[in-house]
Amino acid sequence: MHLELIGLGKTFADGKQSREIPAISSVNLRVEQGQLVSIVGPSGCGKSTLLRIISGLEKSFEGKVLLDGQEIVKPTNDVGLVFQQYALFPWRTMCENIEFGLEIMGMCKEERRAIAEKYIHLFGMQGFEDRYPCQLSGGMQQRVAIARTLIMNPKLVLMDEPFGSLDSQTRNDMQEFLMDLRRERNDTILFVTHNVDEAVFLSDRIVVLSKRPAKSLRIFELIAPHPRDRTSKESNDIRREVIGILRQERISPSPAAN
Ligand SMILES: Nc1ncnc2c1ncn2[C@@H]1O[C@H](COP(=O)(O)OP(=O)(O)O)[C@@H](O)[C@H]1O
Ligand SMILES: [Mg+2]
Repeated sequence: MHLELIGLGKTFADGKQSREIPAISSVNLRVEQGQLVSIVGPSGCGKSTLLRIISGLEKSFEGKVLLDGQEIVKPTNDVGLVFQQYALFPWRTMCENIEFGLEIMGMCKEERRAIAEKYIHLFGMQGFEDRYPCQLSGGMQQRVAIARTLIMNPKLVLMDEPFGSLDSQTRNDMQEFLMDLRRERNDTILFVTHNVDEAVFLSDRIVVLSKRPAKSLRIFELIAPHPRDRTSKESNDIRREVIGILRQERISPSPAAN
């Protein structure tokens, strides 16, 4: 499996002021099987728009999204999504939330329950199966959201600031949890975050985007083995460089929207 983004561009029409808002400009990227690639960039630069295009949710855009050479033009089970807002069904228990995709596929109750239980075990959530989302901590709700996505075995997982609403300790725990999960499974993940520490801790590569319209400014390859030391010289050096690029983006003048 591999993902290719070729010359991706997107311009929104601002109906009220009848002008165009360029959001993404000529983004090229290749993601290989099993990689975790982070995308960092200033707030509002077009990160979520980029993921929406890759997931097939945007109808009009420039360029191509290829998954294993096949163009993605509409939402598909091959691409799984995890958002900052967990978007769990409040009226379904943990187990029923995790089983949701299998149920839609028409799998019988016993079979999907058996698979969901494997995920509940893998995710360390035994004993909470029958709880409703409001009875779970934020970290556990996000684990349910990730399990619900991974149970479908997507070829590619898109995560949009998935730990953005968690407190910093839970966020660190979730980052470690995601790394543990990657030792068990070989998922390919495109991970949007504006948290540079998180990107340095998790990623095989970091793509730094410019301010809107987003274009790729720099790609960092990270080779330190996992689990990574968040305070190592290598981590600090990369963090400093990424932060320096982002700071430069903030202080350089904005291109006028045309
Ligand atoms: N449906 C839309 N119509 C018009 N402008 C939009 C729409 N969606 C996003 N935008 C604009 O595109 C830019 C990028 O948005 P987004 O991708 O959400 O940024 P990010 O996720 O990096 O914070 C923003 O300026 C936003 O206001
Ligand atoms: Mg966003």
